[in-house]
Amino acid sequence: MEISVCDSYKILSKRVAIDIIQHTQPLEEPLVCIATGETPKGLYKELRERYNQNSLDISNWRFIELDEWLDLENDCEGSCLRRLNQNLFKPLNVNEEKVCCFDGKTNNPDDECQRVESFLQSYGPIDVAVIGLGMNGHVGFNEPGTDPSLRSHVSELDSVTKQVSQKYFSKSKQLSKGITLGLADLREAKRLILIVSGHKKATIVQQVLEEKISKNLPATLLRDHLNFTVYLDSDAANLLHPI
Ligand code: GLP
Repeated sequence: MEISVCDSYKILSKRVAIDIIQHTQPLEEPLVCIATGETPKGLYKELRERYNQNSLDISNWRFIELDEWLDLENDCEGSCLRRLNQNLFKPLNVNEEKVCCFDGKTNNPDDECQRVESFLQSYGPIDVAVIGLGMNGHVGFNEPGTDPSLRSHVSELDSVTKQVSQKYFSKSKQLSKGITLGLADLREAKRLILIVSGHKKATIVQQVLEEKISKNLPATLLRDHLNFTVYLDSDAANLLHPI
């Protein structure tokens, strides 16, 4: 695992955009997974700017969604798909056929997980996965206690996640479950990137990077991935101890 501390959020976003582009460039049909949440907004912007300046061709990329709320309309305010559509897929003219997303409104979540896993079997493993970090150490909706051998699955949202995630909605929302790629899927990604910004995350960053590997801090279970970089801005890195 490599840790890259960036002087600002802007620099972090730029470096991650360059990282993704460098890793996808030699590939014929790269499969890319980019998280939603607040943290990747700067990255989306970097990718949009490059696309608009004609310096980024993503016509051969495929995308897979990291996670989604279960039982919410797919395109409702706060949904992961809506964020990806608005910030990335529509501005970059991504063809719908190139995208695999969880249907959060499905009547049969098990079949839905199976469908996503079949996509991964056909087009995976993921070439580059860019994930964010929850305030409880979750990645995707792999909440504390998650079995690391799981692939796509339904997860019971942790109380921290339910509370923190209200920020994605203008009115208070009843959130109970998520549907997510599992740690086993993420661990198989050829390139794994974790992005974290802001002083609010400094404590969880310190725990995830310096405490013992544990199911209770799901992101620690990625630490031994062989091609893994954690990009932090200086606020998020504030409590790390010098090596
Ligand atoms: C959310 C999402 C994740 C996201 C993480 C961090 O709950 N399930 O996909 O990466 O938590 O979100 P944020 O960047 O808003 O802090």
